[in-house]
Amino acid sequence: MSPYSATPVLRASGLHVSFGDGAARRAVLRDVSLDLFPGQLALLMGPSGSGKSTLLAVLSGLLAPDAGRVLVDDDGTAVDVWGLSDGGREKFRLRHTGFIFQGYNLFPALNAVQQLEIILKWGHRLGNGEARERADDMLNRLGLAAQKYKKPAQLSGGEKQRVAIGRALVKDPTFIYADEPTSALDWENGQKVIDLLRAAAHARQSSIFVVSHDERMRPYADVIYHLDDGILTVERNTVSLVPAGPSEVSR
Ligand SMILES: Nc1ncnc2c1ncn2[C@@H]1O[C@H](COP(=O)(O)OP(=O)(O)OP(=O)(O)O)[C@@H](O)[C@H]1O
Ligand SMILES: [Mg+2]
Repeated sequence: MSPYSATPVLRASGLHVSFGDGAARRAVLRDVSLDLFPGQLALLMGPSGSGKSTLLAVLSGLLAPDAGRVLVDDDGTAVDVWGLSDGGREKFRLRHTGFIFQGYNLFPALNAVQQLEIILKWGHRLGNGEARERADDMLNRLGLAAQKYKKPAQLSGGEKQRVAIGRALVKDPTFIYADEPTSALDWENGQKVIDLLRAAAHARQSSIFVVSHDERMRPYADVIYHLDDGILTVERNTVSLVPAGPSEVSR
């Protein structure tokens, strides 16, 4: 069982999302509610088109729901992500959220160290020395010591994915959202990615939300959700949930 706190860092309730107009309008999320906890790796599985990426986007502040709330803890204050101004939401994302997408989204012109440094310098206002030190340290831990000065075009798929993971982890975010992080990787690199995400959840008390078809993820998850046609169910929860303590978010 993972060491984790019983106070949620995110409480989503009554989420509805539909796409399309008129007769073509289709519900993609139907009354979805879930809590995310620090130190917990939550895995979301489900068939293609069931709404998994849509849910990730709503929770992480990228896509506005038609209805529902996403309460998060912003330095001790409960805020609804979708009640914030665009600027406020952007600031929250920058400070508290790391993303890992399948396409890596690396900057083509920057080498591996610079990909991480830029996050720390621009997003977190760290000085050059500290940003370089933290970027170096993270790349070493990801087994990328020899790849530091390579640009994306000179890296393999697995190496690019590890740089993308480093970029998400280096700022020690409250939340890490990963959409199919292992789908393009072979067994060995997929395993490294899973280990890193789990270590981040448990050691840094980050809350990790992973969308994946990858059956290998299952044993690493603290909780497994299943989404089918926009309906969310809990498939397995290995964490024994005790009633949430008094927190702004849990009220
Ligand atoms: N911006 C959009 N406009 C219209 N329809 C959309 C939009 N985004 C997603 N959809 C539709 O919503 C449904 C859910 O999409 P979503 O990407 O969330 O599925 P998914 O579970 O992540 O699928 P996959 O496993 O293939 O990635 C799909 O039918 C998709 O076509
Ligand atoms: Mg998807």
